[in-house]
Amino acid sequence: MNLLKKERQKYVVTSKVYWPTSEDPNGKGLSKKNIFKSLDDTLLRLGTDYLDFYFVHDFDHNTPMETTLESLDQLVKAGKILHPAVSNWSAWQIEKALGIQAKNGYSLFELMEPMYNLVKRQAEVELLPMAQAEKMGVISYSPLGGGLLTGKYGETKRPVSGRLVEDQRYAQRYGEKTNFKIAAEFTQFAKKLGVHPAPLAIAWVNYHQGITAPIIGARNMEQLAVSLEAVNFEMTE
Ligand SMILES: NC(=O)c1ccc[n+]([C@@H]2O[C@H](COP(=O)([O-])OP(=O)(O)OC[C@H]3O[C@@H](n4cnc5c(N)ncnc54)[C@H](OP(=O)(O)O)[C@@H]3O)[C@@H](O)[C@H]2O)c1
Repeated sequence: MNLLKKERQKYVVTSKVYWPTSEDPNGKGLSKKNIFKSLDDTLLRLGTDYLDFYFVHDFDHNTPMETTLESLDQLVKAGKILHPAVSNWSAWQIEKALGIQAKNGYSLFELMEPMYNLVKRQAEVELLPMAQAEKMGVISYSPLGGGLLTGKYGETKRPVSGRLVEDQRYAQRYGEKTNFKIAAEFTQFAKKLGVHPAPLAIAWVNYHQGITAPIIGARNMEQLAVSLEAVNFEMTE
C-alpha cells in the first residue's frame, strides 16, 4: 500500500470481481451492485483511486451480460478503472461481450486470463486464436500446473507438502493419472536437456504466440528465482 502511494504510476495494478467476499447475498457475482461495491472496497484497501485492469473472474449465469458490461463501462467513464478484463469465460462468451461493447460504444475487454500449461491446453483450441484475432492481451495462469511440472510429482511420487496434496481444488483439477504420467515424462525430458523443469514449463507457455506473459506463482523467494530463469530460455519448435 505504501509502495503504491509513492509510485502508483509505475505499476500496473489489477484486481477481480465475482467470488463472494462476505456472507451478504448481494456480495457476489457480476451484478451492478456487487461490481461497484467490490471495486470501491478494493480501491480503499489498496489506497489508490484507480485500477489499470479490472477482471470479471468468472461467468455469472444470474446476471444479464449487458448489465455487467454496462457497469464496467461506467467504471471506465468514472476514471476508476482504465480497462475491463476477463477471466475464465469461454470464447463465445467473450466474443458476444465484445459485440455488445462495440455496439454500445463501451470500452472493450483488452486483456484475458485463462488457465494454460502443458497438461491443460484447452485454451489453444478457441481462446488463444480468438485473442490473437481480436488483439487482446493474454496473461495466463498456472504455468506450472500448480507445481505439477516442477519435478516433485511423478506417477507415484508426491512431495510431503505442496499445493496438489494440500489444496482440494488443485488436487481435483490435476488429479487424473495421465497428468502425473506427463509430469514424470516432462521431468525426464528436462533432465535430458540439463535444465530445471519449472522454468522450461513456463518458457513453453510463454512461447505460444498468443501469450503476452504467464502469471507465475511462488511460495518463496527460492521458487521465484527458479521460475524467473524462464526468461533466459531459447525455445525451438
Ligand atoms: N483467474 C483465475 O481463476 C486464477 C486461477 C488460479 C491462479 N490464478 C493466478 O495465477 C497465479 C499463478 O497461478 P498458480 O499459483 O496456479 O501458478 P503455478 O506457477 O502453476 O503454481 C505455483 C505453485 O507451484 C509450486 N512451485 C513453484 N515454483 C516451484 C519450484 N521451483 N519448485 C517446486 N515447486 C514450485 C508452488 O506450490 P507448492 O510449493 O505448494 O508446491 C507454487 O505455489 C496465482 O497466484 C493467481 O494470481 C488465477
